[in-house]
Amino acid sequence: MTVFKNYLGGFSAILLTFSSFVACGTEMYKVSVAEDFDTKRSEAAHPASADKNSKLYGIHAPSGWVKLPVEFRFSPDMDQSQRIHLMAAMKKWEWAVGEKLFAYSGEHKGVVGDSFKDLYSSLQDDVNGHYLDQDWAKTNKPDHVLATTIWNNATDFSVISKADIRFNSQHYLIGDSYELKATTERDVVDMQSLALHELGHLLGLAHTGEDVDSLSIMNPALYIGEGLTSRKFSRGDLERIHFIYGCHGQSCDIDGLLKEQENADWDKLTLTAKRWMQDKGPSPELNFN
Ligand SMILES: *[C@@H]1O[C@H](CO)[C@@H](O)[C@H](O)[C@H]1NC(C)=O
Repeated sequence: MTVFKNYLGGFSAILLTFSSFVACGTEMYKVSVAEDFDTKRSEAAHPASADKNSKLYGIHAPSGWVKLPVEFRFSPDMDQSQRIHLMAAMKKWEWAVGEKLFAYSGEHKGVVGDSFKDLYSSLQDDVNGHYLDQDWAKTNKPDHVLATTIWNNATDFSVISKADIRFNSQHYLIGDSYELKATTERDVVDMQSLALHELGHLLGLAHTGEDVDSLSIMNPALYIGEGLTSRKFSRGDLERIHFIYGCHGQSCDIDGLLKEQENADWDKLTLTAKRWMQDKGPSPELNFN
């Protein structure tokens, strides 16, 4: 607490633990997500987040953001597809709570991941930025970490006031896994899947053990590779995000959401994200019809 006197900086990362098998002509890895925010700090502030018997389990910031919607910017080097799939993931979290959580403010002009001298220095401005890092070593994280979410808290650990996501594009090809082709140097990572997980952290969720909720997007496990995605919420994900943000209208019907998640035309999500990118501001309505 003395070193980080003004904020409880959060940190989380996705780690590659084992490469498993080869299927469909493409290499497929099961990825482990390691709870890498300083456990000492976060558990000291909020022990219940790691207590499997607590209703706060899997939640690091029970009061969510100090102000909604969260205004965000992209580093200018993010391509169209990366932006669309990141915004699609935001839109999907909004679908889960029935409320606008994010507002798009355009690019963070002239600022990319490599503009920052290390991982935490991107927390020093007031922009909630999404950045590609081409020089990953500067974050002091191992090469195999896919992305990290870092944040500042407000009055206490339970409220988030600002957050950045840094993507490891030096070592991974991040985008639409149905379209990208892996190279010998870089494996494909599905942006929408990765962003759903990282945005979960950004919104206040911690990791959820597979033994507690095996289908959670916040599980410490994710497949990467061509054509592989994890774009779905579990019932527990919906309950936990409702715990923080409440629910509005149809989103209060969790059975209904789970049914819609299976049956709706989710291409509409990317179409909505495309429109959002052109219009800026809060997201347009998502309409499945
Ligand atoms: C962040 O949370 C810690 C622990 O709850 C608290 O001591 C600190 O004052 C908070 N930071 C700000 C900027 O209020």
